Amino acid sequence: MARIEAADTVLVQSAGSGVGMAGIQIAKYFKTRVITTAGSDEKVARARELGADVAINYQKQDFLPEVMRCTAGKGVAVVLETVGGDVLTKSIQALAPMGRLITVGNSSRSSVAPDMDLVRRKNAIFARFSLGTQMSSYGGVMAELAKIMELCGQDKLRTVVDKVFPMSQVSEAHRYVAERRNFGKVILIP
Ligand SMILES: NC(=O)c1ccc[n+]([C@@H]2O[C@H](COP(=O)([O-])OP(=O)(O)OC[C@H]3O[C@@H](n4cnc5c(N)ncnc54)[C@H](OP(=O)(O)O)[C@@H]3O)[C@@H](O)[C@H]2O)c1
Repeated sequence: MARIEAADTVLVQSAGSGVGMAGIQIAKYFKTRVITTAGSDEKVARARELGADVAINYQKQDFLPEVMRCTAGKGVAVVLETVGGDVLTKSIQALAPMGRLITVGNSSRSSVAPDMDLVRRKNAIFARFSLGTQMSSYGGVMAELAKIMELCGQDKLRTVVDKVFPMSQVSEAHRYVAERRNFGKVILIP
């Protein structure tokens, strides 16, 4: 959906989320410049290891002025957004004219509506993607999945598994995710 090209700068929100860690790698696979955000210095370091060119600890620094500084005031061509609320609002502000923002989540569970007026003023594209809808209504994403598996097999993409819990520790696993301690996937073994 994002139609990314090598010349693009891509802002991937929430480097430590499952979506974010995959987004950084896929954007780098297309040879783009990747800016990402995370809530701790440790996650910022992990994001750099995954290939992010710029990683911002948003707890220490407002990401919007930093993104604008890193793009010489132009903004980014593409945003992959998963947090919602204030982060979604600022992500639209971080878009360059004719940019594309793909929203796939709302980790903050915010009910703040996107500023579609600003999207229009920037001649930008605002799109939502749902894997669930794609799989239940439109025959899934088998070709894309096969490509991703091929790239994983070639070590060009990797799944980051942060922690594995037995099902008997399901509460601890949920607490771990709720406390935002994970970088990548948390797995429960039945
Ligand atoms: N549309 C789709 O097809 C699709 C597919 C998968 C997931 N999703 C959605 O995408 C979002 C991310 O899923 P995920 O499984 O990748 O997430 P995850 O692994 O649970 O990571 C979520 C991360 O978001 C960051 N975050 C920033 N602001 C937050 C806030 N206010 N509250 C909670 N977390 C916040 C936290 O990292 P920091 O503390 O470092 O900021 C947190 O660790 C969810 O809303 C999920 O439902 C959508």
